[in-house]
Amino acid sequence: MQMKRFIFSSILVFSIHFILAAQSHIASKGDLNIIPKPFKATPNGSTFHFNKKTVLLLSGDVDKSAAQIFLSSLHLITNLSPSISHKASSNFIRLAIDSNSIPYSEGYLFVVDEKHVSITGHDAAGVFYGLQSLIQLAGRTINHAVPGCIIEDHPRFAYRGMHLDVSRHFFTADQIKKWIDVLALYKINTFHWHLTDDQGWRIEIKRYPRLQSVAAYRNETLVGHKKDLPHIFDGQRYGGYYTQDEVRQVVKYAAERHITIIPEIEMPGHAMAALTAYPNLGCTGGPYQTATYWGVFSDVYCAGNNATFVFLQDVLDEVLNLFPSKYIHIGGDECPKQRWHTCPKCQKRMADENLKDESELQSYFIKRIERYLNSKGRQIIGWDEILEGGLSPGATVMSWTGEKGGIAAAKQQHQVVMTPEKYVYLDYYQSLYPDEQLAAGGYLPLKKIYSYEPIPSVLDSTQSKYILGVQANVWSEYLDSKQKAEYMMFPRMLALAETAWSSKENRDYIDFLSRLRQQYPLFKKLGIHAANVFDEITYTIGKNPNGKTLINLDSTLPHGVIHYTTNGTAPGLYTPVYHDALVIDKGEIVKAAVFKNDQQQGRTFQKRISFHKAVGKPVTLTFQPAENYNPGDPSALVNGIEGSNLYNDGQWFGFSGANLEAVIDLGSVQKINLIGTNVLKYHWQRMWEPTELSFWVSSDGTNYTQVYSQKDFAINGINIIKASLKDTQARYIKVVGINKGIIPEGEYGAGAKAMLLVDEIFVY
Ligand code: ACM
Ligand code: ZN
Repeated sequence: MQMKRFIFSSILVFSIHFILAAQSHIASKGDLNIIPKPFKATPNGSTFHFNKKTVLLLSGDVDKSAAQIFLSSLHLITNLSPSISHKASSNFIRLAIDSNSIPYSEGYLFVVDEKHVSITGHDAAGVFYGLQSLIQLAGRTINHAVPGCIIEDHPRFAYRGMHLDVSRHFFTADQIKKWIDVLALYKINTFHWHLTDDQGWRIEIKRYPRLQSVAAYRNETLVGHKKDLPHIFDGQRYGGYYTQDEVRQVVKYAAERHITIIPEIEMPGHAMAALTAYPNLGCTGGPYQTATYWGVFSDVYCAGNNATFVFLQDVLDEVLNLFPSKYIHIGGDECPKQRWHTCPKCQKRMADENLKDESELQSYFIKRIERYLNSKGRQIIGWDEILEGGLSPGATVMSWTGEKGGIAAAKQQHQVVMTPEKYVYLDYYQSLYPDEQLAAGGYLPLKKIYSYEPIPSVLDSTQSKYILGVQANVWSEYLDSKQKAEYMMFPRMLALAETAWSSKENRDYIDFLSRLRQQYPLFKKLGIHAANVFDEITYTIGKNPNGKTLINLDSTLPHGVIHYTTNGTAPGLYTPVYHDALVIDKGEIVKAAVFKNDQQQGRTFQKRISFHKAVGKPVTLTFQPAENYNPGDPSALVNGIEGSNLYNDGQWFGFSGANLEAVIDLGSVQKINLIGTNVLKYHWQRMWEPTELSFWVSSDGTNYTQVYSQKDFAINGINIIKASLKDTQARYIKVVGINKGIIPEGEYGAGAKAMLLVDEIFVY
């Protein structure tokens, strides 16, 4: 909203621009554009310039290879090449380690004046992070001037992570190293490498050659989104894996940049690729096929067969040799239980071990692997489903399905890494504009990831200590190129980095954006294809005091001016300037674009608004919508705007296991020609059509007559329902949708409550 405050008319805008530009010039002098925001930073008015005499002065324990890594990054971004020296000169950068004067682990003190830069780390990591701050400051301007300052800095969380799935799409070891460089620049210290899954096994295991020749490949790959039926495939064999030498190199490369790599070997689910190579490890014995499309598959490792544990322990032995990390990720998520339910070996295991159900069998599986890893001096980390059937004693939980798993684990005094899907899954769309590259689904704009607070408010201060940190996850189903992957990672990873490093008090989105805009020259030097859509126009819907529906437009672009139209034409410099919410009193298409210096910035915003009899009218819901799918005011069901394929775009109402029962009061008896609504059917997101949808009308709000009913919803996506009515007069409209209830066996999320999603009830 920062922009709107200032824009009253186009004439005033001109002079205000002038004032703001002057202010921002003052603010930018000595600006410390560092991401993540340092703990404490004070400009001192001086400036350090690199020159031909600049040397890198190493004192005490600072090792030369650390200095060389810095020099190569500095050179890449600035073309500068200071030499390493043990003698001071007239212009130097001095590095030192002093754990006494710098109290915080990974922390550093950074002092810049005219002649020198001094970086003192608590430890080697602290020195490294001071150097990353220096690279950011020097990299942002053409002359690489470093603003004079004193910075005291240290991280809020010890665990600051990014996950990457290399099974669905493979990225080379060299590519991984480039991303590690970028993560290190923003003080991320953990890379969670998701190495095995249904669609490909990506790590060489010498004892099991078929993991390389068979499991590392799939016959073909799904084209387009998996919700689009029928599925179409590309017919191209796809795959690849990292040799152990490559893995060693990547682990070393990361360690030199203070990044720990945690390998993930998935079990007991997401095992199709391994089963294809070694079918005896599945309950049915196969044959199996490395998956060619995305989802959750019912064939998993057999928990009753000892060969499964022999195989996994052999695999882990080789993994442990390659990865020195304290934690080994063993997956644990999304393991359907139907094969175990009918497998004689699994059932015998349950009887022998006194396990009451298949959830306890999963817990047995994880605990058995945990004991093995503990015996080798390592600890397990797993997705929150490892809570099912009882958590193993030393497990660390990665809370992804929401915050619940993390909260439960912290209350049981288990360590937790927060990665809740709705806040930190970078496979979600970052923009609602329809021409975004294909993504898994969902909506996670930069602002939302930035807003995430990793310590749930329900935890007390003792329990909060179990929250080790936070991680963003990059699932690669739709990321079939480096460019697409980077578009999803950056800049959202920088928001996560700030959440993970900076103190809660230091986090401010508008301030973050002003520092973020200055990272783009660095991205360019690093060859990173970062998205740049965060300043584009977004909208919200409101109501004015007369009950009329309003659409608010907003852009975070400083000095941006929004021009709009409502007649279908393109917005331009000569169409009206937006300065206040627009009242919706007829059906229209709002188009808008943001301009700066008379140039359009970014894409044109477009939103179709339907104006029908129910818009703005009061709505009563009998059952509460689910937390994640609740726009708040029930009248958002009649706001003239339809929910899109991006199911968490803020328009859809979701009823978890409960029915939709909405009553709209039109205020007076009127002729009704049509009632309609939209239902979103996405079984892969646990979103189920109702078993019956019906429309009812009434003149008195007591006696209702049914005017329409529908039981089939053929579209895998948005089902548009329209019922034309004859000779119908009514004041009250009731829409009833009967929830499917529990998701049936064999479907994604079997046994959980089905979500019934509806948006916009139309009355004409
Ligand atoms: C996950 O997203 N299945 C951990
Ligand atoms: Zn079995």
